[in-house]
Amino acid sequence: MKDPASSIQYLNQFGEFGDVNPSITDSATYTFLEAKTMVDTFQGEEEGCFLYSRHWNPSNKYLADALAAMEGTPSAWVTASGMAAITNAILQMCGCGDHIITSITTYGGTYAFLKNYLPKFNIDVTFVNIDDLESVKNAIRPNTKLIYTETMTNPMLQVSNIPVLAQIANEANLKLVVDNTFTPLIVSPFKLGAHVVVYSMTKFINGKNDCVAGAICADEDFVNSLSDVNTGTAMLLGPVLDPLRSSSILKNLHTLHIRMQKHSENAMFLAQRFKEAGVKVNYPGLPDHKNHDLLKELMNPGFGFGGMIAIDMQTAEKANLFMEKMQHAGVGYLAVSLGYFKTLFSNSGKSTSSEVPEEVQREIGMSEGLVRFSVGLDHDIAYTWEKIEGVM
Ligand SMILES: Cc1ncc(COP(=O)(O)O)c(C=O)c1O
Repeated sequence: MKDPASSIQYLNQFGEFGDVNPSITDSATYTFLEAKTMVDTFQGEEEGCFLYSRHWNPSNKYLADALAAMEGTPSAWVTASGMAAITNAILQMCGCGDHIITSITTYGGTYAFLKNYLPKFNIDVTFVNIDDLESVKNAIRPNTKLIYTETMTNPMLQVSNIPVLAQIANEANLKLVVDNTFTPLIVSPFKLGAHVVVYSMTKFINGKNDCVAGAICADEDFVNSLSDVNTGTAMLLGPVLDPLRSSSILKNLHTLHIRMQKHSENAMFLAQRFKEAGVKVNYPGLPDHKNHDLLKELMNPGFGFGGMIAIDMQTAEKANLFMEKMQHAGVGYLAVSLGYFKTLFSNSGKSTSSEVPEEVQREIGMSEGLVRFSVGLDHDIAYTWEKIEGVM
């Protein structure tokens, strides 16, 4: 299928009574008519049977299949949070003594996992500026297992050159893992050469801010390895997504293309207005963004440049005051997270990137006055801008 939204649309997934939405499988365990089938299923020799919902659940499988269709991956797996997707994918690939190369700008939780948690397992991590492809190459060691990045990094909105990173990874026999949370549909990392794509579905994919969820999209061998009853990280650590949630996320996935178009349209409008007003604004859709041309090369047409913008208010005090005033004026909510139908804003350095030490924040160019916007689905964005302008 040519584009990711149509790939979701043309999936035929029905419930057991011809229900247009697949039935919800509300069971932890499954019965077998013959004992031998159970044994064969445990040994991976029988296909199509469900064992236990920590392993696979039909509702989770419907959602995983739809995500695989969107991403163009042979398979996918869903998890109870984005962090579960990230940590399970990494832990499945790396063991004691291994080495990871990562973009220094990632979501704060990912940074903390790589920086503070993995050393417990003697896994070494090198942090690089992902724009500097030479530094990625130079960081490769004999024990390196993977390169980790975000398609559009949080909150610096740098765009990763996925095809070149994939080439570097392939030449050194490494895996490239990409978090595509900010740019679902807009960029298809697997089709550009990434080996594993992870998502926080909490954000744009679900879009309703009513749950936390994640996904791992990859080839069948990798997804099967995650669910292996003896050695699978997902099977053994158990971050299973509730099937009731899977079924609601699946329904929301079918409107993702319309939402991404509107998020992008509104973000572009606000980014242009901020720029005209003389505010320092970071939005990859603006021609003067350093990765604008790269994103244009990588992106699927028709979904825009994404719903995330960052502006620089210079100091945390000014940022806080501005956000309080915007919330009071009804622009949106002073809240972390993103991908919601209402606009959300937060001061990254003191919230979702607070795990990144302040000296590292400054080193990567993150101003203490950075206000990150997840632009909502406002019908009248010009009116929203009037409200913002009124409190600036
Ligand atoms: C880019 C990115 N990846 C992963 C996560 C973690 O996702 P979750 O909160 O669903 O665990 C976040 C959360 O903000 C994020 O922004």
